[in-house]
Amino acid sequence: MDAPTLYETQKTTSDIFVLPSFFPIPVLGILPVNAFLLMSKEPVLIDTGLVPLSDGFMEALAAIVDLQDLKWLWLTHTDQDHIGSLWPLLAAAPDLKVITTFLGMGKMSTYRPLPPERVYLLNPGQTLNVGDRALTAVKPPTYDAPETTGLFDPASETFFSADCFGALMTEPALSADDIPPDQLEYGLKKWGTIDAPWAHLVPPGLFRDSLAGVREMSPKWILSSHLPPAKDMTDNLIDLLAGVPESEPFVGPDQQALEKMMSLQGG
Ligand SMILES: [Fe+2]
Ligand SMILES: [Fe+2]
Repeated sequence: MDAPTLYETQKTTSDIFVLPSFFPIPVLGILPVNAFLLMSKEPVLIDTGLVPLSDGFMEALAAIVDLQDLKWLWLTHTDQDHIGSLWPLLAAAPDLKVITTFLGMGKMSTYRPLPPERVYLLNPGQTLNVGDRALTAVKPPTYDAPETTGLFDPASETFFSADCFGALMTEPALSADDIPPDQLEYGLKKWGTIDAPWAHLVPPGLFRDSLAGVREMSPKWILSSHLPPAKDMTDNLIDLLAGVPESEPFVGPDQQALEKMMSLQGG
């Protein structure tokens, strides 16, 4: 795979769709980039995928929900791999409101401000009623942006964890348990060190304690933006994530390495 690629829409439970894509990263492998559609009474889209895949994303989304019915966009954070179709969606879904935090709204305003009347601010710990259930905003244990807010849906026992629990992979997979265990461990810790480099500053015991919230939540499903859907893998994923502070900090290729890669590519 040498370009970002959209995969076919999947279903986890009867009311959750996954819009998967995969993003190849030189040297590091392949990163899944997922958005999700929760078909609650008031449908909630969670994130909007990659910018280069926006046309295909909008088509895939329109195939599973009437965009006029879409009430909520839960923006886990404002990184480019989460806001790829934000603006086309605001245009196509007139009733859509963007769930974010004050910091998320502020960060968007440094580039293209969100109209305040299209925003709904929700802090971790607060809940939102979406007609047939209440969703709870949850700060995931690891994140790369201060506005990050995941969510727990009690009806489907699903934790949408934003960047947390992501993993670099060697090839695409559509279910986390299809990833060989050694590759999952390597890929999850590697992604953890990249996405949350601050974890190396946290005493491992304290970091482990910080994972108790997810353990107590005990979700059946973990739906990460950067891991294929994971069912009944919560304890395993928490144990792997607990190893991030003690794993090797990530250092990217330097200029010499870049020049070598370029000369190899140039043949
Ligand atoms: Fe991120
Ligand atoms: Fe991300």
